Amino acid sequence: KEATPTVFGLPLKYVSLVTLAVQNAALSIVMHYSRVSTPPSKSYSPASAVLLNEILKGSISFGIALWRLSKSDVPRPFKHLLCETFSHDCWKLSIPAVLYVVQNSLQFVAISNLPVATFQVTYQMKILTTAAFSVLLLRRRLTSTKWVSLFFLAAGVAIVQIQTSTRALAPHKLNRPVGSAHESAPLYTHIMSPLKGFGAVTAACFTSGLAGVYFEMVLKNSKADLWVRNVQLSLFSLVPALVPVLYGPPMPDSHGFIADFFKNFGGWAWATVSVQVFGGLVTAVVIKYSDNILKGFATSLSIILSFLASVILFNFSITPSFLIGSSTVLIATWLYNQPAGKEPSLLVNVVNS
Ligand code: C5P
Repeated sequence: KEATPTVFGLPLKYVSLVTLAVQNAALSIVMHYSRVSTPPSKSYSPASAVLLNEILKGSISFGIALWRLSKSDVPRPFKHLLCETFSHDCWKLSIPAVLYVVQNSLQFVAISNLPVATFQVTYQMKILTTAAFSVLLLRRRLTSTKWVSLFFLAAGVAIVQIQTSTRALAPHKLNRPVGSAHESAPLYTHIMSPLKGFGAVTAACFTSGLAGVYFEMVLKNSKADLWVRNVQLSLFSLVPALVPVLYGPPMPDSHGFIADFFKNFGGWAWATVSVQVFGGLVTAVVIKYSDNILKGFATSLSIILSFLASVILFNFSITPSFLIGSSTVLIATWLYNQPAGKEPSLLVNVVNS
């Protein structure tokens, strides 16, 4: 088994999990702001963002793979990399590629139609879909204690988030006349459609679980390099990501396809794409050196981190529901990581009865 590399003396496994937690906290805020801070006539095309994400991620992964090959003693690294990229089993990446493009597009629909915190709560259900697909596809066996801890994890996250969402909505109410139809919506926002948002987020939970586990299966069942797999993933994503760019509804006052592609693509749009590209690269590292279920735990801890940051930076106060929710998450994390046979006996008796 390959030894885990280190970064500044720390195992890459843990560095990548913590980095992903921070990236997750940043993404939903930057993405939501990029969508709702301008009126619809001035907003950028999500299809352009999804395509740019894949082009950038694929190019960076190609660069890393080439750099790694040039450091080894492989002759003609560029040609070697091209042969590896178009290897006989590259088609396997087409499945997660399509699922991720669908997921990345659904994420834009969800985040434009739900408040940030509501989006984050419902999106945590991917913890459960991921566990279910890990059992089905990777034949991973989860003890009843692990299932119970996964349910506690999802519940704890929901408790933290629900109380955050009431706070997150409060400042916006000041911007709207009390009693107006959109009094809870941020200023300038398009009319949100929560049903559409919930539908999109539920579908995204399924694609997230299935694509992540499928990628893990391809990665761990073959010797191919992680970065080559990432290049293959991005290449297969190009086709489904191009379809809405070419055939989607035209922008208001369309000036043709090229002009539309970068229309209104300002600083916040670029920030969203950059945080997403970074997240995609870190996710790949996490899936390689840990697994998708641990990824779920890392991202749920990010919710606690971002709340604590708000306490320090924005003078938020810690509420009882925050304490209950975050303790539930921490206990669930501890419980999940108990070695088999060493689970607390009370819980084992309850689960088995
Ligand atoms: O929320 P979830 O963890 O499922 O999101 C995974 C994100 O990481 C998606 O946006 C996907 O495009 C990206 N990803 C990637 N490369 C991988 C695995 C995931 O860019 N190898």
